Amino acid sequence: MSIIDEFVKSHPRSKQLHERALAHFAARGVTHVGRIWEPFGPYMTHAQGSRIWDADGCEYIEYRNGHGALILGHGHPDVVKAIQDQVTKGTLCSASHELEIEWADLIKGMVPTAERIEFFACGQEANMMGIRVARAFTGRTKLLKFEENFHGWADELTSPSVPGVVSKETRVIPMHDLRALEDELSTEQYAVVLTEGGGAHMSGQVPWDPDFIRAAGRLAGKHGTIWLLDEVVTGFRDGPAGWGGLMGLKPDLTTFGKSVAGGMPAGVLTGRADVMGMLAPRTPPGSWIPHSGTWNAMPVVCAAGIAACKLLRSGSVQRQVNSTGAYMRQTANKALRECGYNWRLYGRSIIHLYFGPVDFEVDDAGNPPTRDARKMLAGGEEKQRLGLYLLQHGIHTHQGRMFILSIAHTKDDINRTVDALVKALGEAMADGSIGELPAQTP
Ligand SMILES: Cc1ncc(COP(=O)(O)O)c(C=O)c1O
Repeated sequence: MSIIDEFVKSHPRSKQLHERALAHFAARGVTHVGRIWEPFGPYMTHAQGSRIWDADGCEYIEYRNGHGALILGHGHPDVVKAIQDQVTKGTLCSASHELEIEWADLIKGMVPTAERIEFFACGQEANMMGIRVARAFTGRTKLLKFEENFHGWADELTSPSVPGVVSKETRVIPMHDLRALEDELSTEQYAVVLTEGGGAHMSGQVPWDPDFIRAAGRLAGKHGTIWLLDEVVTGFRDGPAGWGGLMGLKPDLTTFGKSVAGGMPAGVLTGRADVMGMLAPRTPPGSWIPHSGTWNAMPVVCAAGIAACKLLRSGSVQRQVNSTGAYMRQTANKALRECGYNWRLYGRSIIHLYFGPVDFEVDDAGNPPTRDARKMLAGGEEKQRLGLYLLQHGIHTHQGRMFILSIAHTKDDINRTVDALVKALGEAMADGSIGELPAQTP
């Protein structure tokens, strides 16, 4: 029986739900493009800690973790209590309240570049406002971005080639192309340059070269362009001051999301007081940016954010999750090497799966086993298929591409996952659904 037939057979309730969903949701029945699975994904009912359960009663070790938002794991008691307490006092008061100040205090305490703070309903909204304040501040309109860097689905944030996108003012250049960066910035027409924290795709499937990112910041400053560092994934995950803090970066603007609100929907724009000052009412009317938004700083979200930030501010959560990541990489890569498989795990607390020629072994910092970005991004279909085998072994990944870790994951979880990974790869290769690659780059 093929893996697809096996999955369908063992997930009758998810199949029923998928068939119902097809009548509602145009994107093959799902509500987020990253939730498309072939033939369909498991329909989840509940989650706790490092576990998630589906409608067919299957239990999984959970490595999607709210698209990266749940560094604290599912249902962390402090966050749950904060939400419960606040729900009974009022979810939305559409007026100023103390919790928004307390949350902002905590964020400022962690992020040295956060001179001012603005709250949003999600990460991409924070990026959209970052672009607007940069334009208003510089009096320029053009926007520079890097290939593969993800910032959201709005016109200026997503790929200009997506149907329906209008992005006349956006230019996208390859990552690490210093010449292209200099050529563009030296025109002195760019309001803003956007970079994703850590590198492209969820904390660095294609990591940034630290020298390049520093040069990008310097060049932006030299040419009067605002540098926006998008830490929606890496913020409060890589460390209390985010990836930028670890690297000692000083972007003009930084955006946060995901972990900052403990799994509740939020986005945060932080940065220089003069740039953020474009949001301040002044005369004449029309010379400043009015920011509305029904869900901005919703009390129940602030309460969750406060609880999360209190847990995240010392850095011990991030150290623990990074050390779980190191254990996972080392254990898995040893097992994969011993089996002679051309797969490797790399990354810090979001572990990326690599399928390709191993140019050198993954190092202690979790850098990928090649410097070639195309190789890091290759094997999407194989990874998806492996993801299905992993589901059958009780492992819920981000489409076979990523293991997103949380503080709830134990060594035992990781050992079970590594066993499952080796078994799943063996099965996929044995039935021919995944082929082998040459062991080394020729
Ligand atoms: C780096 C990055 N920026 C921005 C966003 C958009 O955040 P949100 O989905 O909260 O709008 C995402 C979402 O995954 C992201 O990964």
